[in-house]
Parts: sequence; structure tokens; C-alpha cells
Amino acid sequence: MKIYRAHSYQEMSRKAANIISAQIIMNPKCVLGLATGSSPIGIYEQLVDWYNKDDLDFARVKTVNLDEYRGLDKDNPQSYNYFMHHHLFSKVNIKEKNIHIPDGMNEDAEDECKKYEELIDSLGGIDLQLLGLGPNGHIGFNEPSNCFTRKTHVVDLAEATIEANKRFFEDASMVPRQAYTMGIGTIMRAKKILMVVEGEKKAEILKRALTEEVTPEVPASILQLHPDFTLVADDAALSKLDW
Ligand code: GLP
Repeated sequence: MKIYRAHSYQEMSRKAANIISAQIIMNPKCVLGLATGSSPIGIYEQLVDWYNKDDLDFARVKTVNLDEYRGLDKDNPQSYNYFMHHHLFSKVNIKEKNIHIPDGMNEDAEDECKKYEELIDSLGGIDLQLLGLGPNGHIGFNEPSNCFTRKTHVVDLAEATIEANKRFFEDASMVPRQAYTMGIGTIMRAKKILMVVEGEKKAEILKRALTEEVTPEVPASILQLHPDFTLVADDAALSKLDW
């Protein structure tokens, strides 16, 4: 595990964007696993900036997103599909056919999950997976539970997640109760994992995830076992780690 410390959100975003940019430069046809939430927005801004300066080319990059709310159309501003187009895809030269996000409107959950897993396999797996950290230790939408899920599946969102994500909606009642998410296995099979974490409110859960036992009660704790895991976090998020 590598840990990079940043003194601000901007510095964290730039350090993480450096790693993604290096991945694209090394392998212009790479498969990037992408994430939503407020943590990665600065990374996407930095990548767009480098693209505008002609230092990055997304022409052959392929992407797979971690998760999507169930029941939200891709044109719904709260959907992760909309978020990704708004913050990154519409601003760089990625090809629409190379963008993959679970279809929140597919009512046949089994079909959607199977298709998404097969798609990731057909792309040859994920080269670099970007992650944020949920307030309860979730990654993607893998909520605390009694076992690590292997594949893409439907989850019932935890109250803590609904509470944390309601800031993006009119009120908590508007937050979808379910989502499609890559499984812990799907995420852990990525060749590299890059996590960004900021803020004092994540300090305790980050400490538990990285220094205490590996348990599905804290889904991110499994990252301790990944052979190529990099964390980029700010001072506040690292404040409870002895590091
Ligand atoms: C959501 C997403 C996660 C993300 C988490 C943290 O629940 N499904 O992938 O990591 O939020 O978001 P934030 O970065 O806004 O704290």
C-alpha cells in the first residue's frame, strides 16, 4: 500500500490525477474504472485541463463506472451517468461507445448485473480503478454486510448512505433506495486501485479500514490485501492514522 499525503483538496486531486494521467500515457487503450461523489470532482477538472492543453488523449480510453442508482434515467441530473458526462466525458475526446455505466433503468436486475460483469471481462478487466470512501466504509455502493460480494449486484442503500447523499437531492425521500454496484470482487480484480479521501469526517473510518481487521463490516478494509493499492488523502483524513 502506498499513501500520498496532500495538504489541500486541490493538491489531493492533482496527485491522484497524475496517477491516472500516467496510466493513460503508459497505455492509451487502458480500461479506467471511475467513481462519482464529491471526492473525484477535482481529479476530473485536472484531467480536463490537461486534455485542453493537449497533454492527454482519451481517444482510445475505455471506462467502466462503479455504480448507478436504480430507477434513475441517464438524463436525470442526479444519475451517475449524468454526473460523469457533466464532469468529464462531455469535456474530453472519449468515444461514447467506450463509456460504460450500469443502466439504472433496466428493471431486470439479474440481466443488468450479468451483462455488466461480462462487459468488464470482455474488456480484459480494469487497469486502474478509482475509488472514494463512503462514510460507513463502503466502496462503490458495497455497504457494510456479513460477506464480501463477488460480482455486480443490486444493493439496498444503507441509511448512512442515504443521509450522506441526500445533499445532492431535494430531500432524503428523493434518494433512490437501491443501486447497481460492481461487487467487491469486481473491484479487487482491478490491476491497480487508487482511492481518494478528504476531510476530518472520514478520518475515523479510514483508520478502521486501513489498520484494523479485514471485514465486510468495513468493506474498504479489503483494500489492505490488494497488491497495488494507492491512497491519496488530505491531512484531515489522515489525522487519525499513525503515519
Ligand atoms: C457514493 C458513491 C461512492 C463514493 C461515496 C463517497 O455513495 N457511490 O462511490 O465513494 O459516495 O462520496 P464523497 O466523495 O462525496 O464523500
